[in-house]
Amino acid sequence: MNPILVALDVASAREALAMADALRGTVGGYKVGSQLFTAEGPDIVRALTMRGDKVFLDLKFHDIPNTVAGAIASASRLGAWMMNVHAAGGPAMMAAAKAAADTAAAGGHARPVVIAVTVLTSMDEATLRAVGVDTSPLEQVVHLARMAQDAGLDGVVASPLETAAIRAACGPDFLIVTPGIRGGAAGDAKNDQSRTMTPDEAMRAGASYLVVGRPITAAAEPRVAAGEIAAAASIED
Ligand code: C5P
Repeated sequence: MNPILVALDVASAREALAMADALRGTVGGYKVGSQLFTAEGPDIVRALTMRGDKVFLDLKFHDIPNTVAGAIASASRLGAWMMNVHAAGGPAMMAAAKAAADTAAAGGHARPVVIAVTVLTSMDEATLRAVGVDTSPLEQVVHLARMAQDAGLDGVVASPLETAAIRAACGPDFLIVTPGIRGGAAGDAKNDQSRTMTPDEAMRAGASYLVVGRPITAAAEPRVAAGEIAAAASIED
């Protein structure tokens, strides 16, 4: 499928649906995060899935295993295609998330893709130390990615600069969803992103999907920008 997932980082369903309607057919799916979900609730996910869109529900669940399992079950019933948890919740929490996804599939829903957030890219070495982690961010990312894989999850979210190390550690079938896409077909505006790669660099580094927000949503012609970014990302292996 088209690897571009567009981050619908807007405050209202009206804006989100207008953007999704404008881009449909040029991208692979849409990411609904905590800003939009908290404003509009599950109806925004239903509205998109009813239009046939694939929705990555980016709510980063992190709780006791029983609660996370319930959240994954609810997200599956909602029709979300992809959803995520924090790997820092540990192996039992991730295993519970995987089991809930399997149960949803057995109950007649599509098997959702469940991925893990490793280390937030806003956390540097000093921040990790402040929360009691003494390894480098990259080592911690690879450690948590392996833990997610061992727990049976389908993949991770990772910054472009972490992608190659995770691909090497976790093999070809593990999904890597990569934000921080700038430059090349994604245009030169960095916004608040610092460690970035172009769409084709990120795919060559091993990304499975690219999360792209403002290079598409803030473009003068979002549909044209999406088409160019998707074309650049469609590299042959
Ligand atoms: O507009 P932009 O392309 O920067 O949007 C990137 C999206 O990916 C945003 O929704 C942002 O929250 C998300 N994201 C990120 N970096 C991470 C994890 C998620 O930019 N490490």
